[in-house]
Amino acid sequence: MALILGIESSCDETAVAIIDGSAGSLEARIVAQRIASQDAEHAPYGGVVPEIAARAHAEVIAPMVGAVLADAGLTLEDMDAIAATAGPGLIGGVMVGLVTGKALAMAADKPLIGVNHLEGHALSPRLADPDLAYPYLLLLVSGGHCQILEVRGLGDYRRLATTIDDALGEAFDKTAKILGLGYPGGPAVERLAREGDPRAVLLPRPLVGSGEPHFSFAGLKSAVMRAKDSGLHADADIAASFQQAAIDCVIDRTRLALESVRDSGAAGMSALVVAGGVAANAALRGALETLAAGFGLRLVAPPGKLCTDNAAMIGWAGAERFALGYTDPLDLPARPRWPLDANAAPVRGAGVKA
Ligand code: KG4
Ligand code: ZN
Repeated sequence: MALILGIESSCDETAVAIIDGSAGSLEARIVAQRIASQDAEHAPYGGVVPEIAARAHAEVIAPMVGAVLADAGLTLEDMDAIAATAGPGLIGGVMVGLVTGKALAMAADKPLIGVNHLEGHALSPRLADPDLAYPYLLLLVSGGHCQILEVRGLGDYRRLATTIDDALGEAFDKTAKILGLGYPGGPAVERLAREGDPRAVLLPRPLVGSGEPHFSFAGLKSAVMRAKDSGLHADADIAASFQQAAIDCVIDRTRLALESVRDSGAAGMSALVVAGGVAANAALRGALETLAAGFGLRLVAPPGKLCTDNAAMIGWAGAERFALGYTDPLDLPARPRWPLDANAAPVRGAGVKA
């Protein structure tokens, strides 16, 4: 048994999990886990308020560690290592989780593993699917990130594409806000889209057909706003048309990345993998499955609960690191920005977002 305590607090979910890194199935690997969502605290503001998030993490995190250990019938002494998200994310929240992890590691004399939140998402499909081997092509789509990465091995990532403005989840959240669907918006847009006609509203497909596989969603969001303001369309039609336009963009961009990897002579990809909160979207999964099949690849998508932020993916990334002997010192800094591919060139037109 390699038991890892995982802690996640980089955005608006406080989460703690215990992972058995040596188990062979998803069910056996997640020994226990709890997630406290802050949705209710942030809903009045239509988005995550960093100060409120940090305070809420600080309130619940220590009791949550105790509760997860109790759920598992284990103690801190039973853990082999403590893994905590060390970035990227809202710095106040990251600090709460990382310092909690450090304190536990020090008190129990266990190694600390600082996990990159994006690596947690990137490896979550390997937690869910024990057969998923490196290398694979990863579409990472969350509220803060929208990237295509070649995952060559643990800690070895090559970024092929990123967004030059908004992340995909952000586009779903902004569309939800425009349509008055509340926060978090992605699941609400997906629900409403089921009742609408995806061809009803003519919306742009930014960057589709361009020679590099980058993303852009700001223009799409503005078009959604104009469609709403026109008063000509039912909300369900706007939601369905937005979702279709966004998916068309993702498919076109991912196809380009798949082609470039296929033609580059790099080691063959074992699968197309989608992770991050927006990977919970069933329409997106369906379209990606068809795309992958066209390249003779299978699509691997973790169950929805492992797509949105959770601590199981952090514990799992910690378990993969622990197995290779990677641990971190107790003065490890919390990082608001922490790209998976440090060598990726900046993208022209990219704004200030991480
Ligand atoms: O990975 P995640 O939980 O947090 C970040 O690290 O950003 O992703 C949250 C994002 C939000 O933007 C949320 O609206 C989106 O994922 N999301 C969805 C769905 N479920 C969550 N977007 C579209 N369809 C969904 N079903
Ligand atoms: Zn995330």
